[in-house]
Amino acid sequence: MHAIAPSILSADFGDLRQEIERINRSEANYFHIDVMDGTFVPNISFGFPVMEPLRKYAEKPLDVHLMIVHPEKYVERFCDAGAWSVGFHLEAVDDPLPILSLIRAKNVRTCLTINPDIDVHRLDPYLDQVDMVLLMSVFAGFGGQKFIPDTLDKIRYVRSEIQRRNLPTLIEVDGGVNKENAGDIFNAGADILVAGSAVFHSTDPAEAIRAMKHSAK
Ligand code: DX5
Ligand code: ZN
Repeated sequence: MHAIAPSILSADFGDLRQEIERINRSEANYFHIDVMDGTFVPNISFGFPVMEPLRKYAEKPLDVHLMIVHPEKYVERFCDAGAWSVGFHLEAVDDPLPILSLIRAKNVRTCLTINPDIDVHRLDPYLDQVDMVLLMSVFAGFGGQKFIPDTLDKIRYVRSEIQRRNLPTLIEVDGGVNKENAGDIFNAGADILVAGSAVFHSTDPAEAIRAMKHSAK
């Protein structure tokens, strides 16, 4: 799968409805929703109030990325708020399994994510327990950072492991994705690319999405 998930973190919140419609009309596959709590990451973004207009106007599934401590307290509310998938950070919790169960019980897709400094092998035991893994290619917290090239090896590793075990698990990559590097990231084995600034700070967001989506060899 070669899918694009624009991160609305970089959208113009003074005109959110228009930004949502712009993505609706594009070739994007999902809306990526970055929730930051000021504790797990040194930044605060938004929470449930922003899920409401998205649920109302977005015509593509809502992919929620929680950068928060104690995700177990909030995952069910994000499911009820209309999430298509809910992801949280492995390094934010002691045991992800009960939290994954809370999400699954709501019939919502599960995602486990790791920051660039977390050993990719820590995902091994969970690859068959989740619908998706999200490999951060920048440190979570801010849009507009530069893609960390080491991520490509991690993608190749997870792709080979998923193939070896014949799993349907999807690989999502988030941070610093743009028209120049999207092809390499897909070719390394990613299924879904998140892009914030490359979409919303572009003069032609629909064209940026189209170019990234069709960039794989
Ligand atoms: C970073 C977020 C990303 C971010 C991506 O903490 O998880 O989704 O918005 O933004 P760009 O594409 O600008 O790196
Ligand atoms: Zn994200």
